[in-house]
Amino acid sequence: MIVDLRSDTVTQPTAEMKEAMMAAKVGDDVLGDDPTVLELESILAQRFGHETALFCPSGTMTNQIAIKVHTNSPGEVICDELAHIYRYEGGGMAFNSGVSNRLIKGDRGRFTLEQMIPEINPDDIHFPPTQLVSLENTCNKGGGCYWEMTELERISTYCRKNQLPIHLDGARLYNALVAQSTSELEMGKHFDSISICLSKGLGAPVGSVLTGSASFIKKAKRIRKILGGGMRQAGYLAAAGIYALNHHVDRLKIDHENAKKIEAVLSNNEAIDFIKPVDTNIVIFKLKDSIDSENYLQALAEKGIKAVGMGPQTIRFVTHLGIGEKEMDCLVSNLSSLLD
Ligand SMILES: Cc1ncc(COP(=O)(O)O)c(C=O)c1O
Repeated sequence: MIVDLRSDTVTQPTAEMKEAMMAAKVGDDVLGDDPTVLELESILAQRFGHETALFCPSGTMTNQIAIKVHTNSPGEVICDELAHIYRYEGGGMAFNSGVSNRLIKGDRGRFTLEQMIPEINPDDIHFPPTQLVSLENTCNKGGGCYWEMTELERISTYCRKNQLPIHLDGARLYNALVAQSTSELEMGKHFDSISICLSKGLGAPVGSVLTGSASFIKKAKRIRKILGGGMRQAGYLAAAGIYALNHHVDRLKIDHENAKKIEAVLSNNEAIDFIKPVDTNIVIFKLKDSIDSENYLQALAEKGIKAVGMGPQTIRFVTHLGIGEKEMDCLVSNLSSLLD
């Protein structure tokens, strides 16, 4: 048996999802008449209380488009030092938008208003104008933690008062919403744009949606075209997204429970130095220096368990739709025998 914990991006479409995809009515989305894409965009815009939305091939693209539209080079983007937009998007902010970053050393990817305010540049020719604040929820490298709504609200209120656009990288936003029992509307009102991935915990094969105002999305559509992200009969993919939104949101709590079970097994283990607190579907842990992490990953692989490293001595497990009871049993028994 293969237990693939490398990411929640590895999920295979279910039979029902494939049926929904095959039944989709499609058009040409670059020409704006793919009915299923339009439906997906309208569902997410409505759910988050934004005017409209744009379906794109990936979360990297929705983030990068948002940054490009919100900024004007030379400018600066404030984000946490662990943010995906800074660490894992290939330097796209500099490449695509010609902006610099101001990084905040937060708590597992989250920061406070008090930490943010001093990082906003004064109106002085020595400094690039601060043009965007970007948050990530849940925070991937922070171990899947989510923002407390009170802090998020404080930051958003400040940004709005100071005409500073605020973007949300919501690659795993539904994990945060389910874990916190927060509504999409409650989340949506704090942001000018949100990137929502369908191909992570939600289990669709491809796609992310960017939501925002009509004028923002009009500009975003132009950038999507320039980046080569305009897809034609994309309704087949959008149908998977609609199916996922209707059927795979509530079940995210199972992924969160499984991640907690893994945390419990690991926390009894002598070989583990520490585990980041587990809040959703990501478990990040550090092995003691006496254990070689490459050997550890290899030993897991020999048992059919796939995982990835995330920095020195650090391993990440991500639970998802493809991790059911059988996979959990296999994982738990192997983890116990491997490290005890
Ligand atoms: C927090 C976060 N944002 C954005 C992305 C980018 O998504 P994609 O892989 O679809 O480009 C990822 C991917 O893992 C992510 O974890």
